[in-house]
Amino acid sequence: MKKEDTPMITVQQHIHNEQHRFPDASGTFSSILSGIVIASKVIQAKVRNAGLSDILGSVDQVNVQGEVQQKLDVYANDALVHYLSVRESIGVLASEENEEPIIVHQGSDGAKYAVVFDPLDGSSNIDLSIGVGTIFSIFRRPKGVTLDDPEDWVLQPGDQQVAAGYVLYGSSTILVYTAGQGVHGFTLEPSVGAFMLSHPNIRIPDTGSYYSINEAYREIMPQPYVDFVDGIRAGSLGRTYSLRFIGSMVADVHRTLLRGGIFMYPSTRDFPEGRLRLLYEANPIAFIVEQAGGQATDGHRRIMEIEPHAIHQRIPLMVGGKEEMDKLHATVAAASSS
Ligand code: AHG
Ligand code: MN
Ligand code: MN
Repeated sequence: MKKEDTPMITVQQHIHNEQHRFPDASGTFSSILSGIVIASKVIQAKVRNAGLSDILGSVDQVNVQGEVQQKLDVYANDALVHYLSVRESIGVLASEENEEPIIVHQGSDGAKYAVVFDPLDGSSNIDLSIGVGTIFSIFRRPKGVTLDDPEDWVLQPGDQQVAAGYVLYGSSTILVYTAGQGVHGFTLEPSVGAFMLSHPNIRIPDTGSYYSINEAYREIMPQPYVDFVDGIRAGSLGRTYSLRFIGSMVADVHRTLLRGGIFMYPSTRDFPEGRLRLLYEANPIAFIVEQAGGQATDGHRRIMEIEPHAIHQRIPLMVGGKEEMDKLHATVAAASSS
């Protein structure tokens, strides 16, 4: 059989193999993932149509971060809330666009999972036909916690994630996820309308040729990050690097995952705790990158060991392959011991 004649594996078929991560109910993972899949198909259709329908631009409100909400931020959030809230296994949803967690399936015994998400990552790129994404993370309800404390369903360190992923609406639409058994990518086949396995068992290269940071913040970021960037530009890792910074973290991380290198968003004068959000940006990306053989830290600690104290908490985020991350940590450590 020629390759093009071989039936392709859909994401739904693939996740059947990962059901053991959700031991209390067969079909649970499949059900939650299918909610994310349908929402992302709806979002990607809107993204592809942007410019033709009245979906560009901002709405007259700011979100909990104080950031102006784009129409697509709101649309993507509504789609995820809509398609996830009908899944009986989910008790709590938490989103970048909602100040408080949303309780669904009140009182249902079957509601044992929480889903946390950034519905639309890369808002500043929406109106520009540049890649944007959706990021999600799934937690099991901790023992003894009830719906009286919905925040406690999601205020868990990233090591407790049962699955995490992102969808990148780029030149193609790709869903990348992990449930603790490696990282797998599925490209949306538009003529069929299904996500097909295109990138099985993604491994991040130990080293790459790209570094990714908003270098315009050079004067307002900690010195070790400036030193690290200057070092690799000067050849400290024995190769010439190119700079890529898209400004949609999902897109920057996706490239880093496939091509290697490093992505950094350290603290800055304007964002002393970092810009990116721990629960729905850093943690899911960290789970994926570690599962792919890479590292994800705040410059010192593994992201997934950090105990969160607030849903919208920010954190510095560095992700990449072994060589770049080891070099970065050595540079940061040397600075703090001198
Ligand atoms: P969001 O659109 O969900 O608010 O996230 C945008 C984030 C992230 O995607 C990107 O890396 C970062 O903002 C870019 O920030 P700067 O404009 O400060 O570089
Ligand atoms: Mn984001
Ligand atoms: Mn967002």
